[in-house]
Amino acid sequence: MKQGKIVSGMRPTGKMHLGHLHGALLNWKHLQETYHCYYFIADWHALTSEYAHPDIIRESTYDIIIDWISVGLDPEVSTFFIQSDIKEHAELYVLFSMITPLPWLERNPTYKEQLRELTQRDLYTYGFLGYPVLQAADILMYKANGVPVGEDQAPHVELTREIARRFNHLYGEVFPVPDVLLTPMSKLLGMDRRKMSKSYGNAIFLTDSDQEIDRKVGQMITDPQRARKDDPGDPDVCNVFSFHEIYTEAEKVREIKAACPAARIGCVGCKKIMAESLKKGLEPVRAKRKELESNMDKVKDIMADGNGRARAAARDTMEAVREAVKI
Ligand code: TRP
Ligand code: SF4
Repeated sequence: MKQGKIVSGMRPTGKMHLGHLHGALLNWKHLQETYHCYYFIADWHALTSEYAHPDIIRESTYDIIIDWISVGLDPEVSTFFIQSDIKEHAELYVLFSMITPLPWLERNPTYKEQLRELTQRDLYTYGFLGYPVLQAADILMYKANGVPVGEDQAPHVELTREIARRFNHLYGEVFPVPDVLLTPMSKLLGMDRRKMSKSYGNAIFLTDSDQEIDRKVGQMITDPQRARKDDPGDPDVCNVFSFHEIYTEAEKVREIKAACPAARIGCVGCKKIMAESLKKGLEPVRAKRKELESNMDKVKDIMADGNGRARAAARDTMEAVREAVKI
């Protein structure tokens, strides 16, 4: 018997890459086995920063859903839905906004960091300040017990916990106080050894072609101490080797681990082997994606079904909420 509920979402602001796969997605897949999971597309959250160019939101929503299914998230086991299709989230967000003190939002470290870093956009909006209040509505709507997120999102879930406590204190016990389930960071770095990210231009996407994978793997920085082929290398600091550990067969990985520090293998050859393993590893994901892309009606049905299940849960929660708030 599954115990407990999980809610997590992704903002549809572009394609999924290997950092997402080995960070959030495989973790989500794993959680499916032990929890009732609600996974959703946070399109209103995307709008808080992309309001001036919303096209990307529509474009990436179905891209992401297809990726979810292609990597093995199962829409029959988990409930997939699209945030903006469940209007109850907006209602709960309004109610939470009445009880959320402004300083809780203003002192949020993720908020402050994003204002500092995302300088190309004007983020001094009411919607962006209220981002975590909407997130609290997403989470508490399904009475989640746990929320799997990366470290940057932990302050938002902390705020959700405070909002849940405050609501329960004011109106009676309606919501469980959910735990933060920190997602371990993906070990796979981008081609330049920084964290893999679309905005750094260093990512390998699930949709990349064989040629793109060959080109990107060719550009990857290996052990930075290894300038020439006869210098010894250190697999432990080499990002190419991290990919081998996931995608290359174990015996070959052992060989490389021994050959690299003895300079018996060069980085160019080593990368070729890795690119082959990676392409092979992604093959089933691609095949599944192709199948789904040629059957978009089925994908739409899947989402209609998920939305229906989410809506039913949301309606129940909102009945209890309205009763509690007496409005
Ligand atoms: N803010 C999250 C992110 O950018 C996305 C998100 C929205 C979310 N609502 C959520 C995550 C609820 C977990 C639970 O990654
Ligand atoms: Fe990395 Fe392979 Fe080069 Fe060693 S040989 S440094 S593991 S790419």
